[in-house]
Amino acid sequence: MYIEMREINKTFDGFHASENVSFGVEKGHLAALLGPSGSGKTTILRMIAGLDVPDSGDILVEGKRMNDIPGSKRGIGFVFQNYALFRYMTVADNIAFGLEIQKRKKTEIKERVEELLELISMKDLGKRYPHQLSGGQRQRVAFARALAPDPHLLLLDEPFAAIDAKVRRELRSWLKEMIGRVGVTSIFVTHDQEEAMEVADTIIVTNQGRVEQIGTPEEICHHPATSFVQDFIDLPRYEALMMK
Ligand SMILES: Nc1ncnc2c1ncn2[C@@H]1O[C@H](COP(=O)(O)OP(=O)(O)OP(=O)(O)O)[C@@H](O)[C@H]1O
Ligand SMILES: [Mg+2]
Repeated sequence: MYIEMREINKTFDGFHASENVSFGVEKGHLAALLGPSGSGKTTILRMIAGLDVPDSGDILVEGKRMNDIPGSKRGIGFVFQNYALFRYMTVADNIAFGLEIQKRKKTEIKERVEELLELISMKDLGKRYPHQLSGGQRQRVAFARALAPDPHLLLLDEPFAAIDAKVRRELRSWLKEMIGRVGVTSIFVTHDQEEAMEVADTIIVTNQGRVEQIGTPEEICHHPATSFVQDFIDLPRYEALMMK
């Protein structure tokens, strides 16, 4: 496993936001954390990113314990839930942000930004400001910004939540292709089962701070491990999706 969560517990004022959470993601894979609102998905991502500290349990990356390593040193890219771009920075400056912090050379930054603009098919839009972009374009820039410093692990928290259904569908196949092309291990949070089914190699179903089941989309749909998963997953919807 590339990243492993072992028996993670996290409470907020006695409330269990994560309870004995254990799962792993293999190198280069895209895993989805799927579960209803409040089931603890964002909490898990924040602990992996070092923005929150677990009360107990281990976070391992390639077998190395990460708990005490500061977030900025973990080599993680994060696309936040409802996270806007920096409004007063151009697209190019937004993408360059993480590289500027690392004090990379100007020429190197320029080159990397060009490369990423190309990757997200926005080559000529580097000088625009966020308000001059569509919602889908903004999320593509957020993705490029997270990828710029070459993270080992990419975390995406409901990156398409604010985007309408049609564009959202296009964006998720785009995202899957991009992640495959870049080869970065990724964890994607969603409460939309169709989104999870379509993008993920592995789905981790969360409920009330616990992991209910881990499996491929097929396993989750056809062999639900708990009554919660059975109720939460809409099998006809999955089958219709597979017919497409
Ligand atoms: N900083 C905090 N202080 C107190 N409670 C918190 C804090 N962060 C999260 N929680 C609680 O922990 C639970 C899990 O929250 P979390 O944000 O991880 O859920 P989620 O699955 O990401 O939900 P959503 O789909 O709505 O984003 C919720 O009940 C939430 O209110
Ligand atoms: Mg959340």
